[in-house]
Amino acid sequence: MIKDDIKKVLVSEKQIVERCKQLGSEINEDYRDTKDLLLVGILKGSLPFMAELIKYIELDVEIDFMAAKSYQGTESLGDIKIVKDLDTSVMGRDLLLVEDIVDTGITIKELKRLLYNKGARDVKVVSLLDKPSRRQVDVEADYIGFQIENEFVVGFGLDYNQKYRNLPYIGVLKDELY
Ligand code: IMP
Ligand code: MG
Repeated sequence: MIKDDIKKVLVSEKQIVERCKQLGSEINEDYRDTKDLLLVGILKGSLPFMAELIKYIELDVEIDFMAAKSYQGTESLGDIKIVKDLDTSVMGRDLLLVEDIVDTGITIKELKRLLYNKGARDVKVVSLLDKPSRRQVDVEADYIGFQIENEFVVGFGLDYNQKYRNLPYIGVLKDELY
C-alpha cells in the first residue's frame, strides 16, 4: 500500500478541503464581475486539487487542461515544451492556472508568458503548494493553499517517478525510497 511509504503527513485531507473552501470563496469574490473565466489545470499534478477547488467556485467558469514538460539538463531556464495544449482559445480571456506546486517558478513563469503571447487578457495562478525558498525566477502564485519548507512532497496530485499522485493528502516519503 502506498501509504506505507509515507514518513509523515504534512497537510491532511481535511486541511486541504478546508483550504479549498477558503480559496473558492476568495476566487468567487475576486472574479465576481469577470465574464468567461477559464480555469486551466496543469496536468497531471493539478488533477485532485482542481477537482476539489471547483466544488467551491460558484461562478460561471469553463475548465480546460494543458501539460508542459521541462527539458532536463539544459542550461536555459524556462525551456519548456507544451505536450498537451488547450482545446479552448484564450484570446481576450481571463485565465486562472491551477497548479500543484510552485517550486523554482520556471513552469508558471513560462506558461504565463506563452498564454499572454496567445492573447490572454489576464493570467493568474492558484497553487496548492508553494516552496518559496526554491525560487529561481521572479514569479509568485496569486492564491496559495499552503507554504511549505524545502522538502520533497508527494500526494494529492504530486508524484515521485509518477507514483503517489493518488494519496489523499500531502506527505513526505521515507528516506530509504529516494
Ligand atoms: P517549478 O520548479 O516551479 O517549475 O515546478 C515544476 C514542477 O515540479 C511542479 O509542477 C511539480 O510537478 C514538480 N515539483 C516541484 N516540487 C515538487 C515536490 O516536492 N514534489 C513533487 N513534485 C514537485
Ligand atoms: Mg506539475
